[in-house]
Amino acid sequence: MIKQRENFGSRFAVIAAMAGSAVGLGNIWRFPFVLGEYGGAAFILVYMMASLVLALPIFYAESIIGRRSRCDTFGAMKKLAPGTAWRWAGLLTIVSPLLILSYYSVVGGWSVEYLFKSLSFSFTEVPAEKIPDFFGRFISSPWQPIFAHTAFMLIVAGIVLAGVSNGIELFSKLAMPALLVLILVIVGYSLTLPGSMKGVEYLLKPDFSRLTPQAYAAAVGQAFFSLSLGVGTILTYSSYVKKDENLMVSGLGTAVSDLVFAVISAFAVMPAVFAAGLQPGAGPGLVFETLPYIFNKMGEGLPMLSTLISSVFFAAILAAALTSAISMLEVGVAFLTDEKGMKRRSATLLLAFLCWVVGVLCSLSFGSLSRIKVLGLSFFDFLDHLCSDWLLPLGGLIFTLFVGWKMSKADVRDEFTNGGTRNVRIFGAVYFLMRYVAPVGIVVIFLTNLFL
Ligand code: TRP
Repeated sequence: MIKQRENFGSRFAVIAAMAGSAVGLGNIWRFPFVLGEYGGAAFILVYMMASLVLALPIFYAESIIGRRSRCDTFGAMKKLAPGTAWRWAGLLTIVSPLLILSYYSVVGGWSVEYLFKSLSFSFTEVPAEKIPDFFGRFISSPWQPIFAHTAFMLIVAGIVLAGVSNGIELFSKLAMPALLVLILVIVGYSLTLPGSMKGVEYLLKPDFSRLTPQAYAAAVGQAFFSLSLGVGTILTYSSYVKKDENLMVSGLGTAVSDLVFAVISAFAVMPAVFAAGLQPGAGPGLVFETLPYIFNKMGEGLPMLSTLISSVFFAAILAAALTSAISMLEVGVAFLTDEKGMKRRSATLLLAFLCWVVGVLCSLSFGSLSRIKVLGLSFFDFLDHLCSDWLLPLGGLIFTLFVGWKMSKADVRDEFTNGGTRNVRIFGAVYFLMRYVAPVGIVVIFLTNLFL
């Protein structure tokens, strides 16, 4: 059965969709607290290196496989390496994004809840000191976070149902520019708070003594997560990229947008954390505890303005989370529609439902199920670590090995250079990174995670 495959309409659409996938809670929520755990400026430097030297080549590997095959992950491996076991590797990378979506949607739900809290003046009507408690009480309560998670998942399913161009592309093109403006407003505000300069210093003055091997491993894990690598998201999106688009440019555009958003988010959050006298290493609650606190402070005397800005801000976090979440669901939907002949509608609803169920368990792991531990971690933390420390690097390893060692160099060159018309001069260096540097780097990370 030959179906017409949808395409992204323009280069802006490609970068908006890919950056939409890349820029998400990973930048605004995860990056600041991971950075806080590993000590600030030095971590940012390592992170930048990890993004450009390890993550970007893997991004290119996925792009090459995706556009070459014009298939979902499983189909791509089947098409480019027929009759081999590679397709099972493709299958693994369909399961991982669904696992990520399950817990990602819980955090997405938190942003839904916080948007409503802002709109209903909940952050301006209590004394600032009370705000951090809000978060702990909210995530451990049984129903509210599950309602919010449900709402988030329904929106994700709705957008994916609308299709690649009318859903994913359109939504990403609107949400991404808006997001940039909104975050810059918050940075501006955060920098005017008394005491915020200590936060700026924290972000600019590197303290290399905090760079343990774990910090390096965490930087790589974060880079993978943030660029949506290793689970076939970029592969699937690349299968919608037209043949005359320059893969080097769209990849670099995505990686740079992602870095810029991560660093800007750190500048939105850390100065405020220091100004508020909170701990930078506070963990996953960091953004949800500190931002409402700033908004509250800001609201003293000006509740309307504060409500407006905080609502817009949480709407922005929500938009960022949505553009990423749709990319995770799309991987599985592409697989079921391409390989199993399912209708887009049934595929979307089925997968969204399965992720919702796993998400409910993650959500409850902050409250009534908090005593149940997997390898000493709550279910939520376990999934996060399983994905960022193991599944994403494993997927990345599979993709680079595939491009570096399984595909013929001529095919790889042909795809990356658009048939020898673009990027010819840098191809050698990119190929070297994909074939040697990235796989070795990933194995080192595995060993670090295993033994330390
Ligand atoms: N990169 C996204 C973020 O930073 C999350 C994301 C989307 C993702 N798709 C992914 C993470 C695939 C890993 C794999 O929020």
